[in-house]
Amino acid sequence: MTTISEQLDETVKAVRERVSASPKVGVILGSGLGPFADGIADLVKIPYGELPHLPTSAVVGHAGNLCFGRVGDVPVVCMQGRVHLYEGHPIASVVHAARTMARLGVSSVLVTNAAGGLDASWSPGDLMMVTDHLNLMGTNPLIGPNDAALGPRFPDMTTAYDPGLRDDLAAAAAEVGVSLRKGVYAGLLGPTYETPAEIRMLRALGAQAVGMSTVPEVIALRHMKVKVGALSCITNLAAGISATELDHSEVEETARAKRDDLARVLGAWITRAGKR
Ligand code: HPA
Repeated sequence: MTTISEQLDETVKAVRERVSASPKVGVILGSGLGPFADGIADLVKIPYGELPHLPTSAVVGHAGNLCFGRVGDVPVVCMQGRVHLYEGHPIASVVHAARTMARLGVSSVLVTNAAGGLDASWSPGDLMMVTDHLNLMGTNPLIGPNDAALGPRFPDMTTAYDPGLRDDLAAAAAEVGVSLRKGVYAGLLGPTYETPAEIRMLRALGAQAVGMSTVPEVIALRHMKVKVGALSCITNLAAGISATELDHSEVEETARAKRDDLARVLGAWITRAGKR
């Protein structure tokens, strides 16, 4: 069996046959946020299906391309869409694109996602800086033999969400005039939305947002010593807080409606992160 490192070498080799870029910042674009990648300069797009070991997503709103280019002066690589654990992919596959960005040499990755809000005073469309997470997915991408070429057996998670990148995000949002919430993201497996009882539990555990992604990627990136920042688009109030039933098309619609704000924040954030 090949190791993760060997698989990454194969993926990176295939990338290198298409593009010679040395990205400094990686970006993961969540539900409805993929179009950001189409606006970057000198865009080169590689469909996940054309790269070894990258699974493709069947979820609406998740185009699957690795996109290279520049935002201002900063060379970037964007994951335009991601795969989720609930789609049934092995967790190593779920994080392979994030690990590929790390292996390509990015020093920071900015992660975006759509999430449900747990605070009744928040509104759909609010943006939230992720300060920390709760891994409630029942699994971890580092399960199995540790590949020491990637990182240590027991990675520290004290500053999973890099304090410098958090400062950069706050400054970026202020610069473009977008207000930001702050909070803890609870990562659940899905694909069901939560029950109202589960939402009460998550609130008691100290979470402000809930979603079905991000946590595996962040763990895999921190293992490889990449700095991580994350931004949630609160697409809906969570089950039992929202007056209406949850529906994926609403999640997508809210994310789409906030796309311009998010793109401006992300652009300003990338500029700052590129200097780290
Ligand atoms: N729960 C879980 N994941 C989500 C939600 C939610 O309410 N909204 C968007 N992603």
